[in-house]
Amino acid sequence: MCGIIGYTGEGDPVMDVLMTGLSGLEYRGYDSAGVAVTDRARSSGDVSLFKREGELSSLEAALPDGSVDGAAGIGHTRWSTHGPPSDANAHPHTDCTGQVAVVHNGIIENFRELREDLESAGHDFESETDTEVVPHLIEDALAAGESPEEAFRTAVARLEGSYAVAAVVAGDETVYAARHESPLVLGVGEAGHFLASDVPAFIEYTDRVIYLDDGEFATVTPDGVSVTDARGNTIETSVETIAWDPEDAGKSGYDHYMLKEIYEQPDAIRGCLRERVAELSGSVEIPELDGISTTIPTVDARDGRPRPIQFVACGTSYHAALYGARLLRDRGVPAQCFIASEYATERVPVSEGTTVVGVTQSGETADTMRALREAGRAGAETLAVTNVVGSSAARECDHVVYIRAGPEIGVAATKTFASQQVALSMLAAALTDGGSQGLVQSLRAIPDGIQRVLDESDAREIAREYVDSDAYFFIGRGYDAPVSLEGALKMKEITYKHAEGFPAGELKHGPLALVTDRTPVFATITDHAEGDVSKTLGNVKEVEARGAPVVAVTDRRDLVEPFADHVLEVPSIGPAQTPILANVQLQLVSYWVANELGRSIDKPRNLAKSVTVE
Ligand code: F6R
Repeated sequence: MCGIIGYTGEGDPVMDVLMTGLSGLEYRGYDSAGVAVTDRARSSGDVSLFKREGELSSLEAALPDGSVDGAAGIGHTRWSTHGPPSDANAHPHTDCTGQVAVVHNGIIENFRELREDLESAGHDFESETDTEVVPHLIEDALAAGESPEEAFRTAVARLEGSYAVAAVVAGDETVYAARHESPLVLGVGEAGHFLASDVPAFIEYTDRVIYLDDGEFATVTPDGVSVTDARGNTIETSVETIAWDPEDAGKSGYDHYMLKEIYEQPDAIRGCLRERVAELSGSVEIPELDGISTTIPTVDARDGRPRPIQFVACGTSYHAALYGARLLRDRGVPAQCFIASEYATERVPVSEGTTVVGVTQSGETADTMRALREAGRAGAETLAVTNVVGSSAARECDHVVYIRAGPEIGVAATKTFASQQVALSMLAAALTDGGSQGLVQSLRAIPDGIQRVLDESDAREIAREYVDSDAYFFIGRGYDAPVSLEGALKMKEITYKHAEGFPAGELKHGPLALVTDRTPVFATITDHAEGDVSKTLGNVKEVEARGAPVVAVTDRRDLVEPFADHVLEVPSIGPAQTPILANVQLQLVSYWVANELGRSIDKPRNLAKSVTVE
């Protein structure tokens, strides 16, 4: 997730403030960074621009010796969405004259049309980003005689999508900013004023803040900040004093990144769906896969038989892959799922026309990369479903679909799992029937459904009641089975307690021997297939008979409540989508058990975020 800092004032040198701000934003994750400052002499002239792919140390090395003085400046940490990490794609972006510099978070949905218009009017572009249209739009408005503030408004009025955007113009000491569906906060200092996507960027300088709302514009000058609406009418704002320890500020008030990321899931899913689903037509389209149906047909043109799709993945991503494979099988495609490290132990199981999909949030997992490489060598078409633009999986596979969850800092995967499930739902539709109104409605219902779970969950109380248990078991069938495996993995990772997940029918084939009154059983029972609810209720009775407490996670409280000690309810949003909500309840239970036990939740012992050894 990108980060923005802006500053103008008479206090510390602008460049120093910007670099401090960027390091305060590092926690958000980034792959490149840059700064732009305007001239203190207030003469016209270029904006000084420095940007580099990689860590802040690369940017620091690119700065000239000695501090660069300036009147106003903006800085950015980029987390790639349009175009891979590179110096050219790093922000800030400038116009043709080098007089305007812009940083942006979010996605400008109409950037292709804007870029075509600007290019045909003679503008030259240097990056692959959506952001670069903004400085060129400002350039045109300035050329038409508008003031910098008017030109900024004119440009922003042309944008569709989500943005937090900030600009500086040569010869000017103001930072201009606007917000729509991407956060921006102003900092009111003693000797200068700030804007940023999050408070840690300027907490060293001031704790007095003004939060911008959607549709608001800000001008930040050395003398003060002002907030207006799209028409330029002044909006009265109040300055809040925040009580954050700078150390904790990156967690936005949450005790752990994991909890913050669990709560970020509604936004992560909105980002994953954006521009890919159309409510009216019910169509699902993934622009990255334009033309893919000709290279990855799910049906063989010669005999009309479905072609095989294989998934390779590890850990949580393997659970998402199990879900994706089931979605495809339910659409008539022969889809198989392999634990990546077991994929090619003797012979690569690829036949003619096979597509191999690597599901990997980091895009770097050694086991998954090896399986994808071997599949590619054996002649399979490969496709990466990943969160990280420019990762090994994204670069090496024939095709890539991004899940757009934003950076995940907690080692235990949470929002990336939900986003993987959603991306795979869209992929399954895009590769087969192209979607339906029902599917699009169900997908669009996920963010609000998760929000309801987050607002109403009793997971914390349940965690308290069962924190001293010997072990935890998780069961579910159909689309609930991968959720049960994932529920158990989360529990063991962050609580260090024994936990196992099973397809519900498997319990009686062995694991039932472990069930006692000290092993709560979490039964995910969502209403997705004829007969499944009553079969899983049968399994619930088997564990109840052995004295185990039962916690049901369900959208069918009416049917399930008589059989359960507790119910964690989820809204019913669709046969394959309700289990995505059920998983959020299980994430919360694990989190609160681990919290009760005082575990190192964000960095569990022995585990790493990106596993680059086989
Ligand atoms: C569990 C977890 C791991 C990863 C696994 C694969 O919370 O994060 O099980 O899912 O190491 O990682 P990626 O998705 O990066 O390939």
